[in-house]
Amino acid sequence: MTILITGGAGFIGSHLVRRMLHRYPQYHIVNLDLLTYAGNLENLRDVENLPNYTFVKGSIEDEAFLDQLFQQYDFQGVIHLAAESHVDRSIADPMAFIYTNVLGTVRLLHAARQHWKDNMDGKRFYHVSTDEVYGSLGETGFFTETTPYDPRSPYSASKAASDHFVRAFHHTYGLPVVLSNCSNNYGPCQFPEKLIPLMINNIQHNKPLPVYGDGRYTRDWLWVEDHAEAIDLIYHQGRIGETYNIGGNNEWKNIDLVHALCDVMDELLGRAAGTSRQLIHFVTDRPGHDRRYAIDASKLKNDLGWAPTVYAEDGLRRTAQWYLDNAEWLRHVTSGEYLQYYERQYAS
Ligand code: NAD
Ligand code: DAU
Repeated sequence: MTILITGGAGFIGSHLVRRMLHRYPQYHIVNLDLLTYAGNLENLRDVENLPNYTFVKGSIEDEAFLDQLFQQYDFQGVIHLAAESHVDRSIADPMAFIYTNVLGTVRLLHAARQHWKDNMDGKRFYHVSTDEVYGSLGETGFFTETTPYDPRSPYSASKAASDHFVRAFHHTYGLPVVLSNCSNNYGPCQFPEKLIPLMINNIQHNKPLPVYGDGRYTRDWLWVEDHAEAIDLIYHQGRIGETYNIGGNNEWKNIDLVHALCDVMDELLGRAAGTSRQLIHFVTDRPGHDRRYAIDASKLKNDLGWAPTVYAEDGLRRTAQWYLDNAEWLRHVTSGEYLQYYERQYAS
């Protein structure tokens, strides 16, 4: 069985590729990734020579390329993660998100349909999406699978559009799809534009810690390998046409999370308690900033028996330690394009 994973050189994708290669040596995993600024083959060095792994560089926006790829490999399934994934970048440049997340997803759906239409038995198209499609919560309540869509950033609007196209291909053409919408992930190999690795990197280098607005925005954090496990489970056992919410049951206000990271880093770096908290700076808020996300993952728990396994204190410490142990990885990804991005994003 050959499975196409898109975006496998990115943060979540690389954890999923590794998991699938080790757990299913009988599968051939083809990782299709354009290697944008967020894609990094260093994330997969430990598995790149496995006999059941193939990396292909290319874009999900390229119709002719996808057609040729589907001809070359008789894919049994697709797990689609490739995307532009950072909200702040979507505010600065929405078009890139429309091309990759909307057009790219539709091109991939089209390729799967063209190549599977005569026999869809046993085929599966799994679309990996985000809880941000549901909009923003107040102090209470949770997103369920039936919460109406209310995307509020160009990123979440592009993901919502892609989700709608996936469901449309199911209802219109019978494409066997399954979807999941997940909360904020964290762990090793996350690009340091996202909150947790950005703060770890800045703490280490004694740089200001930019907390948006009043810092009381809330996110539900999930250990990335728990997400990979959920994707594996849903890919194999999820019901066709269904959507599953995935979350960490682990809500933090940003400022509390940054405090916790400062304290862990002080300990790991041998600094006096309270040193890194002094680096915190409240900066101009993100436009349209969603106040709170929180996931009700009870459907996934009840139907497929999944629950998160790594809890925050352990996960944050493991993440901080990983970045300290992988200074070379961090140095590579924080050169070049990253410096220009950082300058633009945090200039004011
Ligand atoms: P990421 O930005 O780390 O990785 C995205 C990958 O997609 C990169 O390797 C990049 O090179 C690749 N890519 C981008 N454009 C491409 C194109 N045109 N063709 C082929 N490959 C391309 O993202 P991530 O954080 O690992 O997220 C993966 C998926 O999970 C995304 O679809 C995202 O929306 C979703 N998601 C992420 C989170 C999170 O907290 N990070 C939470 C829920 C859902
Ligand atoms: O909820 C799932 C989503 O989580 C994914 O779909 C996205 O791909 C992923 O990027 C993430 O989106 P967020 O916008 O929630 O993540 P980010 O790490 O960018 O920000 C987390 C919170 O921290 C958010 O409230 C904004 C705030 N923040 C972020 C940065 C980068 C700051 O206060 N300062 C910062 O410098």
